[in-house]
Amino acid sequence: MEKLGKWISAKEFQDNICSVFRREVNLQNKVTKAVWFVTARGMYVPNLNGKAVTDAVFMPGWTTYQKRIQFQEYDVTDLLKERNVFKITLGKGWYGSRLGWIPPYHRYGDSYAINTHILITFEDGTEENIVSDNTWETAYTGILFSEIYDGEVFDSRISPDNWSDAAVCEDSYGEELVPQEGEWIKEREMFPAQKIIKTPKNETVIDFGQNLTGYVSVRIFGPTGHHAKILHGEVLDSSGNFYNENLRTAKQQVEIICNGSTVEYKPHFTFQGFRYICLIDWPEDVNLDNFQAIAVYSDMERVGTFHCSNEKLNRLYENILWGQRSNFLDVPTDCPQRDERCGWTGDAQVFIKAASYNFDVSRFFKKWLNDLRLEQFDDGGIPAIVPNVIGQNGASSSAWGDAAVICPWQLYLAYGDRTILEDNFECMRRWVEFIRYQGEFEETWDVGHHFGDWLGLDALEGSYKGSTSENLIATAFYAYSTSLLIKAGKELGRDMCEYEFLYDRIRSAYIREYLPGGLLRDKTQTAHALTLYFDLCDSKGKIARDLADLIKDGGNCLQTGFVGTPYLLHALSENGYEEVAYDLLLRESYPSWLYSVNQGATTMWEHWDGIKPDGQLWSAEMNSFNHYAYGAVGDWLYGAVAGINADERAPGFRHIVFRPFFDSRLLYVKATLKTKYGNVSAKWKIQDNRFIYEVYVPEGCTASVYMDGMCHEVNSGCHKLTMGLNKAQ
Ligand code: BGC
Repeated sequence: MEKLGKWISAKEFQDNICSVFRREVNLQNKVTKAVWFVTARGMYVPNLNGKAVTDAVFMPGWTTYQKRIQFQEYDVTDLLKERNVFKITLGKGWYGSRLGWIPPYHRYGDSYAINTHILITFEDGTEENIVSDNTWETAYTGILFSEIYDGEVFDSRISPDNWSDAAVCEDSYGEELVPQEGEWIKEREMFPAQKIIKTPKNETVIDFGQNLTGYVSVRIFGPTGHHAKILHGEVLDSSGNFYNENLRTAKQQVEIICNGSTVEYKPHFTFQGFRYICLIDWPEDVNLDNFQAIAVYSDMERVGTFHCSNEKLNRLYENILWGQRSNFLDVPTDCPQRDERCGWTGDAQVFIKAASYNFDVSRFFKKWLNDLRLEQFDDGGIPAIVPNVIGQNGASSSAWGDAAVICPWQLYLAYGDRTILEDNFECMRRWVEFIRYQGEFEETWDVGHHFGDWLGLDALEGSYKGSTSENLIATAFYAYSTSLLIKAGKELGRDMCEYEFLYDRIRSAYIREYLPGGLLRDKTQTAHALTLYFDLCDSKGKIARDLADLIKDGGNCLQTGFVGTPYLLHALSENGYEEVAYDLLLRESYPSWLYSVNQGATTMWEHWDGIKPDGQLWSAEMNSFNHYAYGAVGDWLYGAVAGINADERAPGFRHIVFRPFFDSRLLYVKATLKTKYGNVSAKWKIQDNRFIYEVYVPEGCTASVYMDGMCHEVNSGCHKLTMGLNKAQ
């Protein structure tokens, strides 16, 4: 459907106040079906006869609005009566809120409008079509302000009256209307308020016990005209006071104006990243029962579980899940709290593998990749964030732009759906071609702007970039993306000779340039991890040993940033150093994954030391406590610890590769994965000096089980394998 009705808006355009639209529809005949299509330049809430028509929120979702906006379809047959009132409340949403952190901020537009079509089919076969036009009326609501970063102001004294005819707007923006593609965004877990904290600064703070993305639903009673405020924060500072400096310019503030009776309220067009709220000018004694935190995210199906004998690892796993829930809000965002909340491409590619073990992300990522393709620059470059609200800033960085290749390939592995490759192949190819023509030589990428090993601990003082050379990273990812492009092309039956030839040249150039004499020039963990995982050396044994030595000599600490972290443990375990990988995984002091767990984290942190060992916080400029990137280790939990892996020759887990790396510091491990062929499971325990591994292969699937240095080919069903622990794996 290209068209619903006309775009209509409030006639007297008031920048911040949210408007509501209504249309009365009287029906004489018996209705057999009624479907309501709605979209908005903005964000909308539909309502029919005083009832919600959906349990989804934040429609129409976030897309490359200048090119396409989703519309939604609701079956409202059961809600219809003889006399009906259709209502749509409209806020700015992602369309009209300021986005990005670089002033002047990006806004898609300021002409917020709705567009709708009601299609009613009667028993006698006739139809009635009601579309948005100037027969709709509009009025202002009590939502005086609502923006994504800054929160909402709600005056509970105001209920819409003063209805006037809606204005028909220009239809000239040229965006296409497309049916809902992504997952619906829904309210999911609810967290009751756990405790009230009176801070040393005498603030009244409520702790919900879980850092999350969403909003607080409140009940409040105060004298009419009284203003009460709720501030949102993720952590308390080292003295135990409320902390929200890391929000940068985002206010994350909800203000309610009371009306002399009890008001129940939750925000409509904004979300916050928080675990704590701070109450300002609360008009009554604080009763915890009046507050509830609601987690809001794309309603993906949970497909994976992981559990083991180490409770801290289990908490880390939960934190990874919460990192995903908090940042899979229609687009894969970096964080949900400060003035970013954007679809950073690098973060998405770093985490997509772990993400696809946790939840079914096929629909979620298909939609995002559709936008990524629309945002690809004419020269094949890829913006740093999608949907792109920062223009050329940070565009086409290695490891970020490579999301164009890595994400479709990972979806193909996880779901075995060739259409993902078909849809994205040209975009993948154009990205590789873009790189090819950077700089003087086709086989290296040694120019341009790159984010490097973002937030690597081996960064030089004052830099956000780890010390691995940017050109090494760029050329390594160039090789990797080219290798995946070749696989994708072959799967689609294309002739990939040209790219095979190119790949050989990139690989040789990498070895020549960065591995003189067979040793890595950069003595960093990330350089070693990439070289091993991307297969960019002739003798892996030596490089793996060097990596293990680097780690041991550095006191068994990881140093990697966004780029190296996803591959570090794989590079170790796949090359005979699983014990070192486990040393890193199970390490509890800084720097490590479990360090944040010991600090009470309930999500993944942006920095290994978001809260430093002495309790001080990392600079407020860049310190999110809800960034999923380091949660990439989740794929090592499923794939290496439990041993469940996809096989690119029979993707979607039609053939499963079970390859567990065990360690006696764990007594047992269990993981399950719901695939389109059925439920896969793997569990192991260590008992009587034996390693006992049990797997389940769904009907119609096959598997290779690697154990005891051997590969056992098995069919569907339950299989139990054991091995004495003195033997090598
Ligand atoms: C974001 C990241 C992102 C990075 C780019 C940050 O501000 O939060 O997660 O990938 O910038 O370097």
